[in-house]
Amino acid sequence: MLELDELSKRYGETVALDRLGFAVDEGQAFGFVGPNGAGKTTAMRIVIGVLAADAGEVRWRGAPLDAETRRRFGYMPEERGLYPKMAVGQQLAYLGELHGMSDPRARESAALWMKRLGIAERADDKVEELSLGNQQRVQLGTALVHEPEALILDEPFSGLDPVGVDVLSEVLLGVARERGVPVIFSSHQLELVERLCDAVAIIRAGRLVATGGVAELRAERAGRRWRLEVDGAPGTPAWAARVAGATPLGNDVYELAEDTDPQGLLDAARAAGPVTRFGPEVPTLAELFRDVIGRDSEREAAR
Ligand SMILES: Nc1ncnc2c1ncn2[C@@H]1O[C@H](COP(=O)(O)OP(=O)(O)OP(=O)(O)O)[C@@H](O)[C@H]1O
Ligand SMILES: [Mg+2]
Repeated sequence: MLELDELSKRYGETVALDRLGFAVDEGQAFGFVGPNGAGKTTAMRIVIGVLAADAGEVRWRGAPLDAETRRRFGYMPEERGLYPKMAVGQQLAYLGELHGMSDPRARESAALWMKRLGIAERADDKVEELSLGNQQRVQLGTALVHEPEALILDEPFSGLDPVGVDVLSEVLLGVARERGVPVIFSSHQLELVERLCDAVAIIRAGRLVATGGVAELRAERAGRRWRLEVDGAPGTPAWAARVAGATPLGNDVYELAEDTDPQGLLDAARAAGPVTRFGPEVPTLAELFRDVIGRDSEREAAR
C-alpha cells in the first residue's frame, strides 16, 4: 500500500496542500482528480521526492519512503523531459540503465515497452522528430522501462488521440493487474477515470474531498435520484405532476424531496401503466465530482 499521510505544503502565502491523505492499494488503478491548482502535481512531486513536504509523510508498504525505494518507482512528470536529439530506443535503454538495469536487460526492456506502446518502428528516430502524442508514449516508456514497483503519472493521457488513449489504458491496466503495481495518475478526463480506475481521490484546494472505490462512491451518492420507466410512456408523463415531492429531471429521472418515499412515485406510475424499470439513479463520476467540489467550495465560502 502507498499511503500519503497528512501532507502539507505552502509556496509562500499559497497553501498548496493542507493535510492531504489517502491510500492506494497494490494492483489498483487509482485516479487522482481535482480542479486546476488543486495540488495534484505538488502531491505527486512530494511522493516521488522532487519536492519536500512541510509536514506529513509518504509510506510504501508501511515504511517511510526513502531515496532508494523511490528509485524503484516510475514517474511521469507534468513537465515532460526527454532528450530531443537522442534516438527513442537509445533513450529508453539509457534510462533503464540509470535505474540500475544491466545494458542488455535495459535494451530488452526498452524494446518490449516500445512494442507495447506502439512506437517500435520509431526506435531509431530522434525524439524531436516524433509527433507530440508519440513523444508522450516515449515519456510513458521512461516511467515503465525499469519495471517500477509503483507508477506515479501526472496527466499521462493529455495530448493523446483516441487510439493513444486506448493503448495507454491497456498498458496501465496491464501493469496494475499483471504485476500488482499501484498505478496512480492524475487526469481531467473523468469519463476515462471512471472507466479505468478502481478507486479515486478527489481533492480541492489542497484538501481531500472524497476517496474510495469508484463504484462505492457513486452508489453512496445515488441519494434521492430515481430512474423510473413506464412501458410506452416516454418523456414526462402527466401523472408525474401529481406526485408530491418528485421533480422530473427529464430522461425518466426524478429527484425526490427529503422525506419523500420513492414508493409513492412507483405507485403513481403503476396506476398509469406497467413499470419496466425502477431504481436509484447512480451519478457518473463527472456528476459526482461537480457535486462534491461544488459543496466543498460552498462550505469554504460559508466559513
Ligand atoms: N513553484 C510554485 N511556486 C508557487 N506556487 C506554486 C508552485 N507550484 C504550484 N504552485 C501553486 O500551488 C497550487 C497547487 O498547484 P499544482 O500544480 O499542484 O495543482 P494541480 O492540481 O496539479 O493543477 P493542474 O490540474 O492545473 O495541473 C496552485 O495554487 C499553484 O499555483
Ligand atoms: Mg498539475
